[in-house]
Amino acid sequence: MLKRGALLPYGRQSIDDDDIAAVTAQLRGDWLTQGPAVAQFEAALCEITGARFAVAVANGTAALHLAALAAGLGPGDVALVADVTFVATANAVRYAGATPVLVDVDADTSLVNLDQLERLANAHAPKAIFPVSLTGSVADLAAVQRIARASGAMVIEDAAHSLGATYSGAHRSASCAHSDMAILSFHPVKHLTTGEGGAITTNDAALYQKLCDLRTHGITKDPARLGQSEGPWYYEQQSLGFNYRITDIQCALGVSQARRFPGFLARRRAIASRYDAAFRGEAIGVRPLRVPGGCSSAYHLYVVSVVARDGESQSALAARRKALFLALRDRDIGPQVHYLPVHRQPDYVRNGLSAGEFSGADAYYAGCISLPMFPAMTDDDVDYVVAAVREALQE
Ligand SMILES: Cc1ncc(COP(=O)(O)O)c(C=O)c1O
Repeated sequence: MLKRGALLPYGRQSIDDDDIAAVTAQLRGDWLTQGPAVAQFEAALCEITGARFAVAVANGTAALHLAALAAGLGPGDVALVADVTFVATANAVRYAGATPVLVDVDADTSLVNLDQLERLANAHAPKAIFPVSLTGSVADLAAVQRIARASGAMVIEDAAHSLGATYSGAHRSASCAHSDMAILSFHPVKHLTTGEGGAITTNDAALYQKLCDLRTHGITKDPARLGQSEGPWYYEQQSLGFNYRITDIQCALGVSQARRFPGFLARRRAIASRYDAAFRGEAIGVRPLRVPGGCSSAYHLYVVSVVARDGESQSALAARRKALFLALRDRDIGPQVHYLPVHRQPDYVRNGLSAGEFSGADAYYAGCISLPMFPAMTDDDVDYVVAAVREALQE
């Protein structure tokens, strides 16, 4: 049996001496929070995504919560959410007091199924639609936007996996070319990290203002917006907001990581090409997830699907996926499964939020497995994973 000696995880941050120096300099400086590094990091995010505005916050879940509130979601409202995602996407709708209605995905891409999205938009008149750019691939967001406009909904792209991806030719994920807002996450396994961190991007000045207010308790010090002024100390809370601030320490790391981002993205794509060549070239029993035409994935994850045999039941397929998962663990690889569809989460079932037709999500989930994908992987690491998958499938 192949052995490597040290675990190769599915994802891992890449921190170098420049990153450490940037954080150290921040710690020696005047600002630990609410200083200039936050604006510098936001400017870097605007540059990467092409969006006009970025609002950096404490984590991606806070970004989703604020985007839901800025979209005006509240009790009595419905939002459509892709069923295969990290639970935070659907949870944010619930934090706002609204009801998430889950939408099936296409099994071969894991992205939202546009036919079902349109049917559910017609049936529910949603106030927002949350397409998820899962694994780093982006759905046809122009089509999502057309469906949303017909029902008066806002589009909020969950771009936690897709920083750097392009779709429909030249549009950038989180650019908001076909969405009202997009959210990002800077958790360590993501494309760039601040430890914990997140952001919302938008091209809409009014939404930007709302998001800035919501991030800091609904407080403003802007003289133009104050009802009165009693002196230089004076501020007002004009709406109910939160403390979802990110620190300058985190943003110093984010700025340094943003400089390295083009290299990270290029390396992820090179790793994906090497995997693709191995898995597409041979019928070894797994198939790479399909990237939609016109999309260049950012490859947060590299997912393969165990190929179902003729007439194989979903439970038999899931059992073979589990066997592959465990066999890779035995070979010092730490794969992962992204994700149990939201409609199968016990809390969603218990709260009556799991209704719908999810044949695509269930088929995707039964066979999917995320292989190691992070910039510091060497070509030898990739070849090791391919050899381990091949050996495991022959067991
Ligand atoms: C698709 C997706 N959306 C949202 C989030 C939430 O981000 P965070 O962990 O920064 O709160 C994640 C995090 O893993 C995610 O994968």
